[in-house]
Amino acid sequence: MFSLRPVLLIAIVLCLLASVGPATLWGQRPGGVAQAEGSPSVISKFIARLPKPVKDRDYYDDGRPDPLKVELGRLLFFDKLLSGNRNISCASCHHSLTDTGDGLSLPVGEGGRGLGITRDTGSGLDAIHERVPRNAPPVFNLGAREFHRMFHDGRLEVDPSQPSGFISPAGDDFPEGLDNVLAAQAMFPVTSPAEMAGQGNENEISQAAALGDLPLLWELLAQRLRANDTYVELFIQTFPDINAREDITYVHAANAIGAFESSAWRADQSPFDRFLRGDRQAMSVRARKGMHLFYGKAGCVACHNGSFQTDHEFYAVCMPQIGPGKGDGATGHEDFGREQATGNEADRFKFRTPTLRNVALTGPWGHVGAFNDLRDMVLHQLDTVESMQSYDRYQVVLPYREDLAAIDFQVLNDPDLVSDIVEANELKPRRLSKKEVDLLMEFMYALTDPNSIDIRRDTPMAVPSGLPLAE
Ligand code: HEC
Ligand code: HEC
Repeated sequence: MFSLRPVLLIAIVLCLLASVGPATLWGQRPGGVAQAEGSPSVISKFIARLPKPVKDRDYYDDGRPDPLKVELGRLLFFDKLLSGNRNISCASCHHSLTDTGDGLSLPVGEGGRGLGITRDTGSGLDAIHERVPRNAPPVFNLGAREFHRMFHDGRLEVDPSQPSGFISPAGDDFPEGLDNVLAAQAMFPVTSPAEMAGQGNENEISQAAALGDLPLLWELLAQRLRANDTYVELFIQTFPDINAREDITYVHAANAIGAFESSAWRADQSPFDRFLRGDRQAMSVRARKGMHLFYGKAGCVACHNGSFQTDHEFYAVCMPQIGPGKGDGATGHEDFGREQATGNEADRFKFRTPTLRNVALTGPWGHVGAFNDLRDMVLHQLDTVESMQSYDRYQVVLPYREDLAAIDFQVLNDPDLVSDIVEANELKPRRLSKKEVDLLMEFMYALTDPNSIDIRRDTPMAVPSGLPLAE
């Protein structure tokens, strides 16, 4: 009897652990919303769907890029010297005061004035010619290696079989020597007339863009950097293969910009991240219930899976199309999404699954910023077609100009074009109660890294060109 007691005790404890163990992962016994899915087999499937915690080695340079490169990249990112008319920087659309985006549904490119929702469309000859056709995505966590595709349609992606290492819109013109796909991305905004290069004959960069001569365009930008003594010194200090002014190329600049983006805007300390690392109390009970819905009944995990809640694949989710579009369809105001990159009609209206870290900070949401309320965006994902049919177009965040506004809703005004988007939809509706949606929202909020809430520290006080930082 005496010797049996500890054994019995251990057996009882083991039995208890087996019955409630997995449930304690979200700190509650299966009950409430979780009830229907509370059986042990469902629970273990659920746990299998939770991603592994993010680690340093998931990022380029194991999360420790060269500080000199980062600092140089920061200056370049905020310097309007890289735009044809010296009037817009990367930061104008990805600002540290607007959570690495611009707070608008669609960006106002070169020629506009002001920052975030105060940005206007400019005046006189400098005024913008059109809106930029897609929402400026946030730049959080893009220094993680798994983000192997850039842009809403993934038109730039890692491909070791290419001489440059990437499939890109620049094709054979794309240079070698780029550190990674994030750095490679920084080659493109400077070539876009609406974003940074300028229109037609306005300047030498816009002329190169109009000719489609990208190697010339990148060389002209390098010349601007070579002409600036402060930059020359910084490039020589930073890059071992730069010994003199002439050695500076725009590829070096892009590599520095990529290093800045990946180090400054890493965001993997959200309550959810801490929970995955084993801090069971990091998320509230309500957020944990919301997580259970996300990885279970609500079906979000089908696409928003993996460490950063994206499978990096493309789906048609019936997103209302606004703005000038990408030149697709008879009107030219449609945006065929992934088909733009692949030329494959089966990819029409498909867009890349976005990461959801910091999602509460990065509105408006969707590839054209059609939703200005995160709850409406989530409700859209729960019943896309219903949401499209009841879409409230007054929520778009776009500075008004009559001629631009006349184009903004051309697709939505055309029942045939709307029905094309509806027919392509791949996301089936899921029924959730209002209370369950509340819980799902709690989980969305638990994806915010507290370090990302205030990133003013990333804004330099001045840049080497001496150009104004104010927008
Ligand atoms: C006029 C606004 C604007 C400017 C200026 C701008 N961007 Fe962007 N950025 C965008 C838009 C819009 C997209 C999405 C385009 C698309 O998907 O077709 C984008 C996409 C990106 C992406 C890809 C994000 C992802 O998730 O795929 C990165 C990174 C980025 N920009 C960095 C930069 C850098 C670096 C610069 C400066 C060299 C810059 N941007 C300048 C608007 C801008
Ligand atoms: C079929 C794949 C799929 C499923 C399932 C799915 N999503 Fe998405 N999600 C996407 C795609 C693709 C986009 C981008 C669509 C676009 O911009 O046109 C997106 C966009 C979003 C956005 C906007 C993010 C941003 O930065 O703009 C949120 C929020 C979101 N989804 C949440 C959810 C939630 C919550 C669920 C579950 C209820 C869910 N999604 C289910 C594919 C999916």
